[in-house]
Amino acid sequence: MEVHRVSTYLDVEHALRITDLKQSLYDEGKILMDKVLVTLHGDEHRQRRSIESQLFRKNFFRVYENEVFPDLLRETLDQFLTDSSLDLKELGYRIMVHLSLSFAGIDRIEGTVEEADAQHRLLIQLGQAATIGQFKGDREPIFQEIREAIDEFRERFFLPSRARRLAILEEYRAGNLSEEALPRDILTILLMHDAELSMPDELMVREVAFFYLAASHTSVHTLVHATNELFNWCANENNTPEEIVANPHQLQRFVLESMRLHPSSPEAWRRAEADVTLADGRLIPKGDKVVIELQTANRDVTVFGEDATEFNPLRTLQGRISPAGMSFGGGMHVCLGMNLVAGTVLRDSEAPNPENHQFGTVTLIIKELIERGMLPNPDQPPQKIEASERDVWATYPVLF
Ligand code: HEM
Repeated sequence: MEVHRVSTYLDVEHALRITDLKQSLYDEGKILMDKVLVTLHGDEHRQRRSIESQLFRKNFFRVYENEVFPDLLRETLDQFLTDSSLDLKELGYRIMVHLSLSFAGIDRIEGTVEEADAQHRLLIQLGQAATIGQFKGDREPIFQEIREAIDEFRERFFLPSRARRLAILEEYRAGNLSEEALPRDILTILLMHDAELSMPDELMVREVAFFYLAASHTSVHTLVHATNELFNWCANENNTPEEIVANPHQLQRFVLESMRLHPSSPEAWRRAEADVTLADGRLIPKGDKVVIELQTANRDVTVFGEDATEFNPLRTLQGRISPAGMSFGGGMHVCLGMNLVAGTVLRDSEAPNPENHQFGTVTLIIKELIERGMLPNPDQPPQKIEASERDVWATYPVLF
């Protein structure tokens, strides 16, 4: 079996649309990832995705950004923004654990710090399933930890959240509750469509846990990078962060530019289900692996210009090129949470519609934190994870 790499922007875009290339990044993480949305293929994937996409029906984003999100953010900041000196990565996890669980359909029951700690620990334990393919040592202790984490997640959080939603759905079906009043989360959607999906219980637990994972690490990664780029830009350009965030459209463009430079998933992996031909004419025999380099594509100078490796939120983009590049993937697995986290992603030729524009959670969080006085901590420089080839922050000390 050979490995083929695809790295120019147009070739990456094309490869992600080849239906005979099947997801393979999570092949070793079946313990959690087997048959969750991102690992499904063909009709099974289409059916589940079209049902889950119904969550974003009608006015989902308007309600989310104006009502649901501000309350969730305020609750988390009241509980965890208690010191004038903090690590932004840690605070980011506190915020994202809360937002992602709410989106997945898992309730906070006690609302205590101990409960939030347990939810954060489970996120880290479950998350190992997504990266175990790259782990070289003895995997059995890790599988055991993941197994226990799935059980704990199910007993402590999934079952009570499901029971509450089943009761609400009964009220809805009896005509005592409007559709608008239903919780806006994946678990509710799965339960509403139980008959069509016929998902075994244990798969529903893992699907909800997968959404929790997919939404959390990626968003924290983006939050810290985008804040760092904002601070650096302001230091170099003689702006203040307050000036930038005062115009949320401008701040959103900073966030999208940071997403382009620092995608949370630098690569997508696929396996050829049949012989396929790539955009550059290469023939890939059935069974071979294709590594689709999202991060390299996002730095393609023929698309983003000679300064493609630099942060420049003022860059102009051709035609249909997204300011976030390929960071959300493309084709059938294109990120389902893109608009939630990034908002309405406009091309250079498009003007925002003031009636119906979303900014995305990362822009809204950075705006709130800057308005609350967040600054880099001059005495403690931020640090990256050295052992990792990836561009990941270990700590990002800030002051309020
Ligand atoms: C900056 C944040 C995020 C980035 C960069 C990101 C990136 C991606 C990428 C690259 C994929 C495609 C993977 C592939 O093709 O193999 C993907 C898929 C997915 N993402 Fe995201 N994601 C982010 C946030 C989120 C959030 C907040 C959610 C949920 C609310 C989410 C849910 C999903 C789901 C469910 C899929 C699988 C879709 C499918 O297979 O049909 N993501 N994401």
